Amino acid sequence: MSFHGWTGSGKNFLSRIIANNIYKKGAKSQYVNTFVATTHFPHKEYLATYQDQLRSWIVGNLSNCPHALFIFDEVDKLPVKLLDTVKPFMDHYSNIHGVDPRKSVFIFLSNAGSEEIARRAWEYYDAGKPRESITLKEMEEMLSLEAFNQGGV
Ligand SMILES: *[C@@H]1O[C@H](CO)[C@@H](O)[C@H](O)[C@H]1NC(C)=O
Repeated sequence: MSFHGWTGSGKNFLSRIIANNIYKKGAKSQYVNTFVATTHFPHKEYLATYQDQLRSWIVGNLSNCPHALFIFDEVDKLPVKLLDTVKPFMDHYSNIHGVDPRKSVFIFLSNAGSEEIARRAWEYYDAGKPRESITLKEMEEMLSLEAFNQGGV
């Protein structure tokens, strides 16, 4: 899952709701792994180390619990190559580096596209249309264009 929006729009809140509904201990569960780009992966020059580390963390946690939850915060600040490390785990492989990732959940939180989201919401408001009538397709098209323009996710 990928959640986009400004700080305070509820991305972390939503992640907690999901965690609370999967695990007894909720967001405090040992199976919830949160990575914050600027905290965990701040130095671009360590990319190779980060890639190895992240891969082994994901593999390690998935061997402990196939239902592990991985939350990546500040995805717009995460090196794209590091996301490439995560990608195979989100595919439909039954075995990747010795683990089966198909029961795990990956959540990506990003500020990318938040201005466009706000603008679109405003346009609907301005036209007197409820924001619930904004379609998923419309948002997806807008966000993929935005991610493409930023060269990010
Ligand atoms: C699970 O991930 C955390 C980071 O969220 C890491 O510190 C820990 O070492 C990992 N566990 C295993 C068994 O790899």
